[in-house]
Amino acid sequence: MRPAWIEINLSALADNLHNLKSVLSPHQQIIAVIKANAYGHGALPVARVALEAGASRLAVAIVEEAVELREDGCRAPIMVLGATPREAAPLLVEQEIEAPLTDLAGAEALAAAGQHLGRPAKVHIKVDTGMHRLGVRAEEIAPFCEHLRDLPGLEIVGIFTHFSSSQIDPEFTMRQLTLFKQAVAEAERILGYRIPLRHVCNSGATVRYPEAWMDAVRPGALLYGIPRDRGGLYMPEMRPVLALKAKLAVIKPLYRGESVGYDRTWVAPHDTRIGLLPLGYADGWDRLLSNRASVLVHGKRCRVVGRICMDATIIDLTGAPSAQVGDTAVLIGEQEGQRIEVHEIAALCNTVVQETVSRFSGRLPRVYFAEPGDERVYRALAEKRSMLSDAPLRERARAGQHG
Ligand SMILES: Cc1ncc(COP(=O)(O)O)c(C=O)c1O
Repeated sequence: MRPAWIEINLSALADNLHNLKSVLSPHQQIIAVIKANAYGHGALPVARVALEAGASRLAVAIVEEAVELREDGCRAPIMVLGATPREAAPLLVEQEIEAPLTDLAGAEALAAAGQHLGRPAKVHIKVDTGMHRLGVRAEEIAPFCEHLRDLPGLEIVGIFTHFSSSQIDPEFTMRQLTLFKQAVAEAERILGYRIPLRHVCNSGATVRYPEAWMDAVRPGALLYGIPRDRGGLYMPEMRPVLALKAKLAVIKPLYRGESVGYDRTWVAPHDTRIGLLPLGYADGWDRLLSNRASVLVHGKRCRVVGRICMDATIIDLTGAPSAQVGDTAVLIGEQEGQRIEVHEIAALCNTVVQETVSRFSGRLPRVYFAEPGDERVYRALAEKRSMLSDAPLRERARAGQHG
């Protein structure tokens, strides 16, 4: 296996689902957001474990992601969150994939496909309450629903909106929530029934606003344990699921005054040893981390020095004087009681945790493991145990404390 890889702790993922479930009311569902290959964690194993551990529905961004899950044998309800091409309507109905209703033309295409195939297109009305990205504007929901009422071939299973600033702006978030509730009341008055699934909460809102949990919450980042605030007043702390690791491929001396890498951006202030990690920006290890990030070697922070290359990263081994070629460096995750969090890396890149993890490329192997005896994970992967690799566990045992 390539000596730079991502480890996915499926037991941590299952715990997170379980923790979230434990604070929700029994009638409140979890819609696990697994778009973009489950934020880089791997959609198929994450879907299986999330469903086993408490999610009742999956959400993806594009039709292709939903189809891949169906092809893997996933029969659970799946909804698409993003803009859905009208031509995809027949496929969505055929595969029983739920679509967002965002405009009349889309609704008509789905209704026509539903009628043609003799089974309704399942849809969620998307209300735009202030994100201004996708959805029917809240004040236009009444005429929209009047049209829907006349369209056979649709089954409205849900209605939802998306918060633009749930982590930073309570006032605007509450305004969005109020607008949403008004839109739901209007929609239901016109349609003449209660829409079964009302859902608004992304991770930021799930953590902060229990009054907005409604019929279902719809978190992504929280399930992977990556936000800075991944717990708090209303729920237990979520566990990080992903770790990024690489083995030291080369170690060499660098003498005071010598520089490292492209453009000579770091000059050794004293004689030292440097180590090469065999991954770079083509793996999604962002070039902005050059001369800024640290990695753990023997549980000690070692700085990234010089510019990160496409396929290589140099670190200063001053903090880990006994490091050897082949030792494992932890770029994200835990080693000997020390941790580097995804949100730390995201902050150094001036971005959000979602971008950091979803950009890790397919070139980095994903290694899935369960903690010993975790029946939930074994059950979830029953026919696909081959997805699990105990290699990291064996390696840890072999390498003792350096795993
Ligand atoms: C419509 C919608 N709902 C939920 C989510 C999950 O967001 P988060 O990862 O912040 O929980 C996203 C992600 O961007 C989204 O687009």
